Amino acid sequence: MTVQASEDLSAKNALCVGASQGIGAAVAVQFAKQGASVVVIGRSEGLLKKVVADARAAAPSTDGKVFDYIVADLSSVSGIKAAVKDVEKKFSGKGVQYIVQSQGATPNGVFALNQDGYDKSFTVQVLSRFAFPYLLAKSGTFKEGSVVSVCASGGKGPIDVTDLDFGVAHGRNEYGRGLRDLPKAGNRDSACVDAFTLEFKEQFPKINAAHIFPGVVAGTNALRNWPGPLSTVVGVLSAPLGAVGILHTAPTYAHIPVNYATSGANGLFTRANTPVKADPWIQDPQNRRAIWQALEKMLA
Ligand SMILES: NC(=O)c1ccc[n+]([C@@H]2O[C@H](COP(=O)([O-])OP(=O)(O)OC[C@H]3O[C@@H](n4cnc5c(N)ncnc54)[C@H](OP(=O)(O)O)[C@@H]3O)[C@@H](O)[C@H]2O)c1
Repeated sequence: MTVQASEDLSAKNALCVGASQGIGAAVAVQFAKQGASVVVIGRSEGLLKKVVADARAAAPSTDGKVFDYIVADLSSVSGIKAAVKDVEKKFSGKGVQYIVQSQGATPNGVFALNQDGYDKSFTVQVLSRFAFPYLLAKSGTFKEGSVVSVCASGGKGPIDVTDLDFGVAHGRNEYGRGLRDLPKAGNRDSACVDAFTLEFKEQFPKINAAHIFPGVVAGTNALRNWPGPLSTVVGVLSAPLGAVGILHTAPTYAHIPVNYATSGANGLFTRANTPVKADPWIQDPQNRRAIWQALEKMLA
């Protein structure tokens, strides 16, 4: 993907999921700067209000634009579905053309059940990232455009599609032990998002889908999710590197997901914005579809 000059987006609507702070908040402001209407989603109402105000202030014109927020906890299916319904209302008429998803945090290998019987972290990181583009495409709110998922790409198969959230493994004491299981969770999350990203265009040909790894974006909250001292170490080391421009910070990174969305990129990408070849197991359409169908079932 080549980074392009800022495109005028004044006729477009953008949804930024996980945008009360960090990468998502900066992406929302970038969309507004380029003229788009923007709706942001997160849990913290105070932070969301500030992002909406920042987006409004950055916009070249506010005439006829939507700048709004939705408070939602995406760690349950009902929370996800309620947020999707709210998006449909906020963008009624013109629908949404761009979805950028940066909700959640880095995986931590911890298992916590939600009211649906699924792991909460899995529900935010994977299921909600599938649900927004999928449900909005099915309802006709997202007819054409691009979805960009910001989180580590390049997962490896095979993945047990009968236990996507590792609930069974947790019952057997084989998952949920924090640091020891962090790589398992990280790989599963990446593999699932890789799979449904590659499958998206097969299912909805007018929608482009990209899964992009941001690398370390300094100064954001996501890295603080890691267990024990790991989060402190990464936080402490990354902040000065961000300050001197060696690492991206959210505002310097924000144009990248927006460019992926507006250029209609498809596929998986590294932090250096080069394409990642999907794992052979994920390239197999049967396996990708099995993951797709398992996620559909979880939302039913
Ligand atoms: N920053 C990095 O270096 C880095 C590196 C690799 C991958 N990533 C991935 O990139 C994504 C964004 O990272 P970031 O650094 O921007 O993170 P961040 O600053 O922590 O922002 C995460 C956003 O997700 C929202 N969120 C978290 N849990 C939620 C829930 N249960 N329901 C609804 N919204 C929720 C947060 O809003 P509230 O707190 O208001 O709910 C916040 O707006 C994450 O998925 C992370 O894993 C980041």
